[in-house]
Amino acid sequence: MNFEFTEEQSMIQQMAKDFAESEIAPTAVERDQSCEFPTDIIKKMGELGLMGMMVSPDYGGAGMDTISYVLAMTEISKVDASVGVIMSVNNSLVTWGLETYGSEFIKQKYLVPLAKGEKLGAFCLSEPEAGSDATNQHTYAVKDGDGWLINGIKNWITNGTSADYYIVIAQTDREKAHKGITAFIVEKGTPGFEHGKKEDKLGIRSSDTCSLTFTNCKVPSENIIWEEGKGFNFAMNTLNGGRIGIASQALGVALASFEASVKYAKQRKSFGTEISNHQAIQFKLADMATKYEAAKALTLRAAALKDAHVSYVKESAMAKLYASKVAVENALEAIQIHGGYGYVREYLVERYLRDAKITEIYEGTSEIQKVVIARSLLSGK
Ligand code: CAA
Repeated sequence: MNFEFTEEQSMIQQMAKDFAESEIAPTAVERDQSCEFPTDIIKKMGELGLMGMMVSPDYGGAGMDTISYVLAMTEISKVDASVGVIMSVNNSLVTWGLETYGSEFIKQKYLVPLAKGEKLGAFCLSEPEAGSDATNQHTYAVKDGDGWLINGIKNWITNGTSADYYIVIAQTDREKAHKGITAFIVEKGTPGFEHGKKEDKLGIRSSDTCSLTFTNCKVPSENIIWEEGKGFNFAMNTLNGGRIGIASQALGVALASFEASVKYAKQRKSFGTEISNHQAIQFKLADMATKYEAAKALTLRAAALKDAHVSYVKESAMAKLYASKVAVENALEAIQIHGGYGYVREYLVERYLRDAKITEIYEGTSEIQKVVIARSLLSGK
């Protein structure tokens, strides 16, 4: 067991940190209020290789490992969790699946521009009646000549208005339940495909989330990912890696809360001394740092297993379950340490709490992570 990062991993971490501080931080507060999508930032991240980090250079990616991805995602999300989720969806939910399961046609046409950051992707599984119960797909695709006609509604789609390419999960054979679900790529602008208005969210406000409507939307048969009937397995396998991305996003928020608390505690005085000299504050800081390190260890372990090509289903669920809980707890403690100042917009910590909460909900709620972990434990897998 080796707890040291390689030189390359440390360099990527430093590069992401420098980029986040110089290019993302200056507009983060403003975008949280305006909900403006960080188009220019995402473009620059593409040029740095941050949008297709784990994709092979043969397909336009940076060819890095999952550990590097965790480190970069944490640094970006520490400064702005909105940018973090845009990066996570493109890397874990879109490019990974296309490289792993896509045909050569799909890789050349869609993966290469997505991995280079020239195009942006979205992953469309959730529906009004299919959130946690993801097999309950109502979106339906029927064969029509040389293609498929898709009808239905998708909900809560990250990058929903800004993406160029959408991975859409749809039922293609109701008789076969989850074995009759198929994954398609749909291009923005395809007739019959429309997005709704951006949701007005509590947190991660400069990422765009919306619903999508498909009305007799025709996609060619070669846009099927993997094969007909494999769409649910595709989505589940993809989400295992997605959960490492969201755990990393949560780590970023947890770390930001801790660092802001240390800084404030060393400046703020009460009872004639800096509040960092009070044991009540020291205990909070000790708990925050310990929980962060434990969450980081779980996340890096899941990433290491993924890099070693062994099962990481249970470990990625544990990482997301725990890191998201720590993100919320650390953000709450940061507000408590800041007192009244923590409750107002002038200080950053109230945003950390708003941003942290979603990590317990998307890419599988905490309750779903426990289902995944328990099933894995009980089946011995
Ligand atoms: N990894 C791999 N395969 C998995 C899996 C996992 N984590 N979980 C389930 N599967 C497979 C099973 O092995 C089974 O496959 P086979 O039939 O081939 O053996 C198949 O999926 C069906 O599994 P179950 O019978 O266990 O199905 P279920 O309906 O009882 O439960 C569930 C499945 C685990 C609850 C699943 O529905 C689930 O994970 N739900 C949460 C969905 C989710 O995470 N949504 C997030 C939306 S995406 C998002 O948020 C993106 C964004 O924009 C940020």
